[in-house]
Amino acid sequence: MAILPIVTYNDPVLREKTATIESDSVELQLLIDNMFKTMYNSKGVGLAAPQIGKPLQLFVMDADVMTEEYDDEEDLGPMVFINPEIVARKGEHLIMEEGCLSIPEVRDDVSRPAEIIIKYKDRNFNDQALKADGWISRVIQHEYDHLNGILFLDYLSAFRRRLHRNTLKKIKAGILETEYPLMPKQPVEQE
Ligand code: NI
Repeated sequence: MAILPIVTYNDPVLREKTATIESDSVELQLLIDNMFKTMYNSKGVGLAAPQIGKPLQLFVMDADVMTEEYDDEEDLGPMVFINPEIVARKGEHLIMEEGCLSIPEVRDDVSRPAEIIIKYKDRNFNDQALKADGWISRVIQHEYDHLNGILFLDYLSAFRRRLHRNTLKKIKAGILETEYPLMPKQPVEQE
């Protein structure tokens, strides 16, 4: 298994239309394993395929580390969502702080519906449906957005976004130090 570099918010692949995954393959299973390894290495709770440069309808999640803070939630373990579709969003909107591995060090409040129902295929290509609320619902909605070219930054007001301007500039310039590899890598210094 390999740790893959994660693309940053300014990479156009994060805005591309993602392709449906037609069938299982050895390559797909390897990609999923590599995405988990990459996610755990960067201490993330979710990772979408566009974030490692692959515009596919696929994300992985393991939010158990967070459910400890919200102790009424069950541990789901590592989960794979292939060709997912959120078929219902309900409940009141809740504000929670979010971050993103493609936007290191930037965190801010985002308002989203409390509950969702998502249909998807698991890594064995079996049809599944999951009803989620709380933190799990939050992570799923964030990752699902990645498959539709949406970043949590898009929800912030111009004012809030301006507060993150310096960090965003550093990320874009490839000079922000992170504990996990990013792509494009730090540009070669000009003489
Ligand atoms: Ni993200």
